[in-house]
Amino acid sequence: MKKTIIVTGGAGFIGSNFIFYMLKKYPNYRVACLDKLTYAGNLSTLASVINNENFRFVKEDICNREAVFSLFEAEKPDIVVNFAAESHVDRSIENPSVFLQTNIIGTATLMDACRKYGIKRFHQVSTDEVYGDLPLDRPDLFFTEQTPIHTSSPYSSSKASADLLALAYYRTYGLAVSVSRCSNNYGPYHFPEKLIPLMIANALNDKPLPVYGKGENVRDWLYVEDHCKAIDLIIHKGKAGEVYNIGGHNEMRNIDIVKIICRELGKPESLITYVADRKGHDMRYAIDPTKIHSELGWLPETKFEDGIKKTIQWYLDNREWWETIISGEYKDYYEKMYGNR
Ligand code: NAD
Ligand code: TYD
Repeated sequence: MKKTIIVTGGAGFIGSNFIFYMLKKYPNYRVACLDKLTYAGNLSTLASVINNENFRFVKEDICNREAVFSLFEAEKPDIVVNFAAESHVDRSIENPSVFLQTNIIGTATLMDACRKYGIKRFHQVSTDEVYGDLPLDRPDLFFTEQTPIHTSSPYSSSKASADLLALAYYRTYGLAVSVSRCSNNYGPYHFPEKLIPLMIANALNDKPLPVYGKGENVRDWLYVEDHCKAIDLIIHKGKAGEVYNIGGHNEMRNIDIVKIICRELGKPESLITYVADRKGHDMRYAIDPTKIHSELGWLPETKFEDGIKKTIQWYLDNREWWETIISGEYKDYYEKMYGNR
């Protein structure tokens, strides 16, 4: 059946991968991407689909009510998937206000439009960071959908606020909302200020590899396409009003990831530089994905050993994409964040 999906934040890392996945899997679907093109959004990322007749790009802010409502009026979407967000914890520590604006007010604006136009599903792409962190010495503990919200950073607090609003819109207005909380993603088009792409880019340029604190913090890494598959399942088969955790039981310490990148690229570990820790740095994230597995049959397909190789190869093959980013506004950010660290 033909469907129209509005994907917000589709010029960013996960949203773009989701658009590629959906256009390929559903040749009869129309996808309209709404993205403000902040520092993290890059239209060149969407070059391979920009002329696809089933695709449309609109440069707009999800907080702009008038623009959002007129896009809904024009497209009459069946489904809205909200990836648009300020997504970097370190930036949220420097300047929280834009996180509150985009991540909370923007989500509410989209849901107001969904209510007005009777949209059949609004999916909020959230994060495991809303659960706070787990101690390193309790490997038996995992985040389930029942784990209390307990945020650490302005970023995770803004995402948690959006989740609560989404669930409130379900209960109060009956809007068919679903929420997914995924662990850390990696893969192609990951913005080169996040751990994995930053380390790949720095290693390729023989620059220091800045590891926060002792590098013992643990993240639960998932290949981005597995996340896209999970969202596809949730928007088509998941229940409204429900939260689904997404994660592939792939916990790794930051330092071990950085060492793997050095090894894969044939670079010396002497590039690793320990720098001042992040304020309020979460120790460990670990998802229990039992619900999405048992209810929707989702399982991750890409093993980390394969995914990291594919990702590194992608960064080798697409130097122009990330070098252009690194030479732009990001250069000032890097100087500010790492200059005196
Ligand atoms: P990203 O920073 O790479 O991309 C965000 C996109 O949103 C960019 O294209 C940006 O231009 C756009 N955007 C920002 N503010 C906007 C606004 N006001 N209006 C319209 N567009 C705007 O982020 P990502 O890593 O792709 O993350 C996407 C979503 O997934 C986010 O909601 C994030 O919280 C969530 N998430 C990310 C991860 C991860 O590991 N990256 C894990 C779990 C959940
Ligand atoms: P990041 O990619 O920013 O994702 P998140 O904070 O959302 O998990 O960071 C992943 C981990 O890597 C986190 O523990 C912080 C750490 N980190 C470094 O050690 N050095 C860096 O330069 C960056 C960007 C992150």
